Amino acid sequence: MKIVLFGAQGQLGLTLQQTLPAAGYQLIALSRAELDISDEQKLRATLTDLMPDAIINAAAYTAVDTAETDDLAARAANAAGPKLLASWAAENKCWLLHISTDFVFSGRMYRPYTPTDQTDPLSIYGRTKLEGELHVRYLAPEYSLVLRTSWVYSQFGRNFLKTMLRLMAEKNSLNVVDDQIGTPTSTWGLARCIDAALQQKATGILHWSDAGVASWYDFAVAIQDEAVRAGLLQKAVPIKPIPGTAYPTPAKRPSFSVLDKRDTIAQLHCEPAHWRHELINVINAMRSS
Ligand SMILES: NC(=O)c1ccc[n+]([C@@H]2O[C@H](COP(=O)([O-])OP(=O)(O)OC[C@H]3O[C@@H](n4cnc5c(N)ncnc54)[C@H](OP(=O)(O)O)[C@@H]3O)[C@@H](O)[C@H]2O)c1
Repeated sequence: MKIVLFGAQGQLGLTLQQTLPAAGYQLIALSRAELDISDEQKLRATLTDLMPDAIINAAAYTAVDTAETDDLAARAANAAGPKLLASWAAENKCWLLHISTDFVFSGRMYRPYTPTDQTDPLSIYGRTKLEGELHVRYLAPEYSLVLRTSWVYSQFGRNFLKTMLRLMAEKNSLNVVDDQIGTPTSTWGLARCIDAALQQKATGILHWSDAGVASWYDFAVAIQDEAVRAGLLQKAVPIKPIPGTAYPTPAKRPSFSVLDKRDTIAQLHCEPAHWRHELINVINAMRSS
């Protein structure tokens, strides 16, 4: 199967550049510098030239706070680009896997969000990602899968894990929000789910994260424990739980965005590992690199 991957230099893109060729797929991985997905002419010409069997869209404007004042750029990457991809995919009967986010939800739910639950994003990032989802599902219903995920991290790029490791090495103590609840998701577990989805060319909307739930505070404490154990940090610093109101950010975030993965597990036969196990794997990989 020939796959074109967009967002190749992002943390998910870099992971897929390792896992997909290893699983036997022919992969053409394009970074933003090589192809901006909102450039209609270039996008169409490239796809028509390559004629892939599948497209994976891991490209996105992911700077959640900056998006509040940069909505044109966020909309170009998160809504206009996916619209162009979906329209090409439908015209050419090509399967499109589009990655989306738990931030399409408001977090007012009292149980994990299912794929059919009402979306009501709180931020520009969430709104533009939702617009992208709607274009994909409307334009290519028979050829697209929207895969929502949450709290993504890896050893690559910018993410909470890497920010915490830097701050823990620099500071004498840290305050971390403990009233936002979700599930950390390693790009490696997500890549396993993507492989399963590719094999079936699944369609619709599905949810994926690692197993279990955590607050950002829980995640930070686990990161520090595992990083000290692995020798990535020399010492532990005190970590204090604080409410989100004590750490105001330009973008509002859902206070609860756990994703219900039962449909995904049943349909793709892909079981997530507990987030802490995935964290240990990523930290061990960082130690040996
Ligand atoms: N990170 C999270 O916590 C999280 C949570 C839930 C869902 N997701 C979703 O998961 C997917 C992968 O995210 P990630 O964490 O791997 O993001 P990432 O590390 O920020 O990577 C996104 C990549 O997309 C590229 N990009 C941005 N605008 C583009 C455009 N117009 N055309 C082509 N490429 C463009 C970026 O290039 P530049 O760096 O050059 O801008 C970057 O390499 C995204 O759909 C994201 O919305 C992420």
